[in-house]
Amino acid sequence: MGGKVGILTSGGDAPGMNAAIRAAALVALKSGWEVVGVEQGFRGLISGSFRPLCAQDVLPIIRFGGTVLGTARCLEFHHREGRDTARARLLEAGINGLVVIGGNGSLTGAQLLGDPAELGDQALTIVGVPASIDNDVGLAGMSIGVDTAMNTIVDACDKIDDTATAHGRTFIVEVMGRDCGYLAMVTSIAAGADVVLFRESGKAPEDLIDEVADAVLAAHQHRERSRRILVIMAEGVRISAALLKERVDARLVAAQHGEAETRVTIIGHVARGGSPSAFDRVLASRLGFTAASGVMDGFGQRMAAFNPPRSVLPKDAIRSPIDPRCVLVRLEDVIAETLAQQEGNSPVALWRARAFDHIESVLRV
Ligand code: F6P
Repeated sequence: MGGKVGILTSGGDAPGMNAAIRAAALVALKSGWEVVGVEQGFRGLISGSFRPLCAQDVLPIIRFGGTVLGTARCLEFHHREGRDTARARLLEAGINGLVVIGGNGSLTGAQLLGDPAELGDQALTIVGVPASIDNDVGLAGMSIGVDTAMNTIVDACDKIDDTATAHGRTFIVEVMGRDCGYLAMVTSIAAGADVVLFRESGKAPEDLIDEVADAVLAAHQHRERSRRILVIMAEGVRISAALLKERVDARLVAAQHGEAETRVTIIGHVARGGSPSAFDRVLASRLGFTAASGVMDGFGQRMAAFNPPRSVLPKDAIRSPIDPRCVLVRLEDVIAETLAQQEGNSPVALWRARAFDHIESVLRV
């Protein structure tokens, strides 16, 4: 059966979104489907900002950061009225399949858009693709953009390392991730950090201050003065980087350590930009392919996932007949697992926090 598939990117952009658009479009075009790009995410769905995509439009975009379709966070989509308008636009345009590329908010939007209770008898097959540097999408395994962001952060930390070592300073580096500490965790290993702070540890601000101050004092006691201290903190922890610095400095001065040589760097949106890594290009291509194939096979209300942890993989996951690492999981299961991770109840969140109990003691030799 042929048809018309829309592709949109929504929420915070992530490097590799373009590679996912490209793969989904090429696979659909190859199968004789028409492909339509929706501009500015769900906002463009509501306003009917559609443009046809052909192979020439998408072939060169694999190496570009951001998203050629544009993206937005769309509040109107939280309301039934906004979603009804979007469904009407899709019907008018003859679009019967949709690939939604984005993070948690976007996948929740996709789930609501395709909710049978709201959809009635409209034919619309929706498959999501997890793309967010936060790696906080339940069941995703690995989201598009995480690898590139990780490399950008590690590159920045290596540069900070040079100046920090030269001065024998302590640097507190804050990295994005919203409520999820994954980027802080993995970059702390890759950058050789001394301390990593993340929300999932459940530590109170006072404990975080103690952790950093104790690490600096211990390092100054046991190591050469020129050695740097690198602290990586996730943006989701319950204290700001500025306040953490202020309180740590106060402790260091009180411990008669003389002047506190602490500096703060916030990596922020820098981690979202840049050309996607080779890994992200391949991951996005595999997920884009799986999602478009899922739409054309009629497996709606699902998300394409790459190698999700076995402990949380639902029994009814549909394995791609072509790519053994990729599966289609139900969007409602994705949303439930995302929530469980946020609340710390998922085996994945528990495993991450437990692993870091061990890793932290090893980092601080
Ligand atoms: O979800 C991706 C993300 O970059 C988070 O890490 C961060 O908290 C948030 O988006 C920033 O959002 P905005 O780009 O709207 O400021």
